[in-house]
Amino acid sequence: MNHLTLRGAKEIIFGSGTRLQTGQQAALLGGRALIVSGRTAMQRSGTLAELGACLAEAGVASSIFAEVEAEPSLDTVDRGREAFHSQQCDLVIAIGGGSALDVGKAIAALAPCPEPVSHYFAGVEIPGQGRPCIALPTTSGTGAEVTPNSVLTNTAAAEKASIRGHCLLPEVAIVDPELTLTCPPDQTAFSGLDALTQAIESYVSTGANPVSDMLCEESIRRIAGSLRRAVADGSDREARESMALGSLLAGLALASARLGLVHGLAHPLGALYGLPHGQVCGALLPHVMVYNMRAAGPKYARLARMLGLGADASALVGWVEALVHDLGAQLNFAAAGLSEVDIPAIVPPTLASGSSRHNPRPVDEAGVRELLATLIA
Ligand SMILES: [Fe+2]
Repeated sequence: MNHLTLRGAKEIIFGSGTRLQTGQQAALLGGRALIVSGRTAMQRSGTLAELGACLAEAGVASSIFAEVEAEPSLDTVDRGREAFHSQQCDLVIAIGGGSALDVGKAIAALAPCPEPVSHYFAGVEIPGQGRPCIALPTTSGTGAEVTPNSVLTNTAAAEKASIRGHCLLPEVAIVDPELTLTCPPDQTAFSGLDALTQAIESYVSTGANPVSDMLCEESIRRIAGSLRRAVADGSDREARESMALGSLLAGLALASARLGLVHGLAHPLGALYGLPHGQVCGALLPHVMVYNMRAAGPKYARLARMLGLGADASALVGWVEALVHDLGAQLNFAAAGLSEVDIPAIVPPTLASGSSRHNPRPVDEAGVRELLATLIA
C-alpha cells in the first residue's frame, strides 16, 4: 500500500431520530431546498410531510421532486435539474433508496452545468463543486450517502453506468435507522445483499487498504448478524440499526477501495433484464467468489474465520449461498432471459467498468465468458 485516499460525506450523522436534524443542517447550506424522492413510499408514510415541517421550523423553504423511478434514467436527472432552477433552490435533500439518492446527488452536482447529464454519462469530467446535497437513506444497501458516484441508466440504449466525481459526494449524510422500519421484506433482503456484496468486494479489491479492511470487517459482521432478522421482522429496531450501520460502513469502504466483478456484471445484467440490483449482486456473488478464489482465497478465509465458519475460504461461499436462499432472493439468470446470444452485448461494458478493473483476479474477455457460462449452465 503506497497511497491511500479516504472519501465520504463532509459530515456523517448516524442514529435513530437524527432525521430531525435535517432542518438545522439545511439552514447552514441555503434558504430553499429541493426534496428529491421516489414516487410514492415517502409520501404515503408521511416522511415527506415530516421533513417539510422540520425544514420550515429551521426557516428553510422546500419544493418536492418525487419522480425518481427504480433504475433512474438520465431524463429524470435533467427534469430534476429544471425543477431545481425553476424553484430557485440552493440545495438538494435526497431521501429514499439508492435510486433517489443517486438522482439527488446528480441534480446537485450538475446544477451549475449547462450540458445535459448525457454529456457526463459519456465520460466527460464534471466541472466544479456543484450545489450541496444532504442524503438520507431509507434502505440499508447502497451506501450512496457517502460515495462519489451516481448510477444512472440510458434507457434508449439499455446502458447502466456510473457518473463519478468529487462533486457527487454529499455535503451531509444523515443515516437514521428509523427511516428503514417501513422498508418491505423483499427490498430489505435485496438492499442488504447489495451492502454485503459491496463489503466483500471492497475487502478483496485491488484498492483495499487497512482502513477499508477495518470498515468491511465490521460491516460484514453486522450484516451477518442482522440481515435475516431485519427481513423476518421489519420492526426489529436493533437489527435495523445494525443493518443501517453495516451499509454505511460498506459505502465508506467502497468510496476508497472500489468494488469488483460482481458490480462490473450487475450493471449490464440489470439493465438488460430489468432485475433488482441487490438481487443480481447476491446471485452473482458466489460465482464471482469462486472465480476469484485463487487471488482472494486468504482474505475469504479470514472472513470465514471471523464469522465462525472455520478456516476454509470455500465455507464463505457456502455461507453466502445459504443466506441468499434463506432470504428467498435466488435468481435464475436463464429464466430471467440470459442466453448465449446476449453475451457479446454483456462483455464490453463489463470489461469497461471501473469495478471490474478493481477485481482481485484480472478480468478479461475469456474470464467474463467463463463466468457467464456458469450462470446459464
Ligand atoms: Fe451495489
